[in-house]
Amino acid sequence: MLCPRWGPEKGRVLCPRWALKRAACPRLNRGPEKAAAPWHPSGPCGKVRRIMDGMRSGSEWEALLALRDAGGAAAPPCGPLAKLFAPLLAPPRAEDGCLVVGRLAQTLDGRIATLSGSSQWIGGRGDILHTHRLRALCHAVVIGAGTVRHDDPRLTTRECPGADPVRVVLDTDRRLGPDYRVFQEAPPTLLLCAEDAPGPDRLGRAEVLRLPRDPLRGGLHLPSLLRLLAGRGLTRLFVEGGGVTVSRFLAAGCLDRLHVTVAPVLLGSGIPAFTLPEAARIADGLRFAWTVHALDPDVLFDIPLDRARPQVCR
Ligand SMILES: NC(=O)c1ccc[n+]([C@@H]2O[C@H](COP(=O)([O-])OP(=O)(O)OC[C@H]3O[C@@H](n4cnc5c(N)ncnc54)[C@H](OP(=O)(O)O)[C@@H]3O)[C@@H](O)[C@H]2O)c1
Repeated sequence: MLCPRWGPEKGRVLCPRWALKRAACPRLNRGPEKAAAPWHPSGPCGKVRRIMDGMRSGSEWEALLALRDAGGAAAPPCGPLAKLFAPLLAPPRAEDGCLVVGRLAQTLDGRIATLSGSSQWIGGRGDILHTHRLRALCHAVVIGAGTVRHDDPRLTTRECPGADPVRVVLDTDRRLGPDYRVFQEAPPTLLLCAEDAPGPDRLGRAEVLRLPRDPLRGGLHLPSLLRLLAGRGLTRLFVEGGGVTVSRFLAAGCLDRLHVTVAPVLLGSGIPAFTLPEAARIADGLRFAWTVHALDPDVLFDIPLDRARPQVCR
């Protein structure tokens, strides 16, 4: 069912909450003339927020940067950006002292790239801005070796005011060479590999740090990774991708929040967003609440996980 204010004639997509809200919504329920009524973020579709409006609000963004610098101790500003980002600036609740947000941009059928690894760009301009904002608000951005191999990203904050995060690359067996941009250019990069991975303590300009392997899930032991980063003062962490990396954080119960952008694209093949152990029943999946934000032409799902993990990963 399509929300009358978000239907295809607006070039927008399904408002997932609308069907549920419709019965309780006097404005939407009063007939076709009501479709002409102005949409308002605090109205009946109140959980769908237009954060692109906040793109014009420089002062709100500056206030969020100030909140970041105050360690979350100041009062958050009011506005659509603050509703989305302020939870990431709150003091961490987990014992390891970290607040971890994962993010992926996926097609409607759950792909983050083609099978050959091409992912630019699944999301639109709003999603790119959103990603740079997450970088600016976090101390460190974490990515998997697959993304470095395919994209050779810089992971800097270029689309909005804000500092560059420290880059953290996960490469268990040190398969990556030194020529990628994260290993050659500022800002600082940490390469995290297994304790038993051979090689020197630097890769290009990156510092190499070692961690135990995760015997259950493969890769590195992520609770140890969070403790190691927290010990270096890197407590607000942005896991930017790819699918294997975000899935491993989810499976390990190491995500406080998840931001998933869904773009109006169907691929029918490609690299999956989430890969977890097989679930036998729907009830074995992870069910959650979400808030939906319009990120024209995409939709952003903001999901508070609070370190929850699917039943099949326990
Ligand atoms: N649409 C999006 O939002 C988005 C975002 C990022 C990337 N991408 C695309 O996604 C593709 C890559 O994604 P992907 O899922 O194949 O790979 P990925 O998550 O980028 O990297 C996977 C690899 O990273 C290492 N790794 C990940 N988690 C680890 C952990 N906990 N401990 C140790 N090592 C870990 C492992 O490398 P080893 O196996 O070598 O140990 C693993 O095979 C690229 O095509 C990229 O363009 C899309």
